[in-house]
Amino acid sequence: MRILFVGDVVGAPGRKMIHTYLPKLKKKYQPTVTIVNGENAAHGRGITEKIAKGFLEDGAQAITLGNHAWDNKEIFEIIDSIPQMVRPANFPKGTPGKGAMIVKVNKLEIGIINLQGRTFLPPLDCPFEKAEQLVFELKKRTPFIFVDFHAEATSEKQAMGWFLDGKVSAVVGTHTHVQTADHRILPKGTAYLTDVGMTGPYDGILGMDRDAVLKKFLTSLPVRFEVASGREQLSGVIIDCDDKTGLAVSIQPFVINEDHPFFE
Ligand SMILES: [Fe+2]
Ligand SMILES: [Fe+2]
Repeated sequence: MRILFVGDVVGAPGRKMIHTYLPKLKKKYQPTVTIVNGENAAHGRGITEKIAKGFLEDGAQAITLGNHAWDNKEIFEIIDSIPQMVRPANFPKGTPGKGAMIVKVNKLEIGIINLQGRTFLPPLDCPFEKAEQLVFELKKRTPFIFVDFHAEATSEKQAMGWFLDGKVSAVVGTHTHVQTADHRILPKGTAYLTDVGMTGPYDGILGMDRDAVLKKFLTSLPVRFEVASGREQLSGVIIDCDDKTGLAVSIQPFVINEDHPFFE
């Protein structure tokens, strides 16, 4: 089982990178399953049907979301009709969509869980309790489970990694948009990475136009953020899992940008 996961796709520059590189990455690495976080895909805020279908056409088999899931109102019309989409599972009961799913590839099945942290983010149900419940359910079907933990605090992400060590194939963080260099396999066999990083503008600030972000810092006045233009990047990770145990055997993050070109 090989998992390819690409982090937060931001706006048109991120979508362009997916369209250009996802097919090439799939050809090069031959992943069993390809997952894309699409919470910022529509102008940095949410996702639309057209964008989600574009990701699926480009080769994603699952789309995870995050705190920006609801920013584009189209989500409420589409979330229940796109089976490949998951939103954070620890939203309250009655929230549209689902927080976990199974991707079937030939005879293999992999569970995908999306969770959202609660530190420096709006209060939600406990992500740890929710993770435990979902892992228990998914384990009845498959030893392969991938968790996208969408959270701000590195401590909360590390806590989730240790909490799920030995119980899932991988815990990979999203939301902070900057790839961390702490990838490792935890002692009981779970691959861990605090943040996979974002896919979109390379020269903005977390994907947004840097002049606007700077103005915000310099003046503290309200500023409207727009997706940055210019050079692009893609951030992802490849995880290999043992076919019997479902536990990880390797984890390798990567970026594609002008400083780190892609080689076929
Ligand atoms: Fe994001
Ligand atoms: Fe986010």
